Amino acid sequence: MEVGSCVLVLLIVSLSLRPSPALEPISTSALLAGAASVAYYYFNCRFQECCTKDWIPLDVKGLEADLRRQLFGQHIAIDVIPKAIEGFLSNKNSRKSLTLSLHGWTGTGKNFVSRIIAESLYKNGVDSKYVHHFVTTFHFPTAEHTSKYKQQLQEWIHGNVSMCKRSLFIFDEMDKMPPELIDSIKPFLEYYNDLDGVSYRKAMFIFLSNAGGEKINEVVLNFWNRGMKRENIQRKDLENSLSLEVYNNKMSGFWHTSLIDQNLIDYFIPFLPLEYRHVVMCAKAEVQSRHFKDVDEVAIKVAEEMVYFPKEQRIFSTKGCKTVAAKVDYWTTAV
Ligand SMILES: *[C@@H]1O[C@H](CO)[C@@H](O)[C@H](O)[C@H]1NC(C)=O
Repeated sequence: MEVGSCVLVLLIVSLSLRPSPALEPISTSALLAGAASVAYYYFNCRFQECCTKDWIPLDVKGLEADLRRQLFGQHIAIDVIPKAIEGFLSNKNSRKSLTLSLHGWTGTGKNFVSRIIAESLYKNGVDSKYVHHFVTTFHFPTAEHTSKYKQQLQEWIHGNVSMCKRSLFIFDEMDKMPPELIDSIKPFLEYYNDLDGVSYRKAMFIFLSNAGGEKINEVVLNFWNRGMKRENIQRKDLENSLSLEVYNNKMSGFWHTSLIDQNLIDYFIPFLPLEYRHVVMCAKAEVQSRHFKDVDEVAIKVAEEMVYFPKEQRIFSTKGCKTVAAKVDYWTTAV
């Protein structure tokens, strides 16, 4: 920005000082304006992030490939997320912002997936200034301050979307968010043409929560007990029970009144509880990323240290893959 604006100022000053008898004053200023905007774009957006295709490549094919390669045990998410995003991005006349709600037990990959989404849509990934990540207990910790948060959040969403329509907002721990705060996001998700002159129809919202996680686990355990393949579980097997669960759950009653009831969530995406074999895969990927050679050995040690439920059958990892990285750290440095 420093260099860019400096050169820009020099360019304008030198052009305006130079006598140009051949040119009319109007065309001179038109020329200047044109040159200035080209120069501005060139110097600023080459080195500094701008709301342009170069910086926001929206690489959905890459997203799908990354999910297939890096996300374990989540065939529904892998199938639905790229399609949902691609459909939204290719629709020139989207009527509202895109809202994805990712549900599931802790450690099943919800945060991981939102990072992969940010990385394939934005060149700077989660560090992009157009990607905003809010964690309820971190950004909105005190219940008494809710009305302050509410105002702040609305200003932020409004301010950021006015700067760049292709903004991504990720809300983590949605089930801990006070109803009032959720209500304050609602207008941005609705079918308005614009609000205060800003259109939100190109923005994307991702909500993460554990709401419905137990219900999902129940359905998956049921499949397992009946000897059916996990990969045959379909979205519809979960979607009804999931939205019912979220709908009826007192803890998340707000979903009912504000978002779900009014169909503001475009996709509910269930994250299934992970089995021993998936934990092994997560661990292997971690070990490999550290260029450590005893991949299988460490991965099995790590997976064996995890706790599994239900108690008698020990099928699903209680923490999914959540503590895997730390355990891999231990084994790859201690050996
Ligand atoms: C954009 O959002 C961030 C929080 O992610 C906030 O700090 C910033 O002030 C917002 N920008 C505008 C212009 O509102």
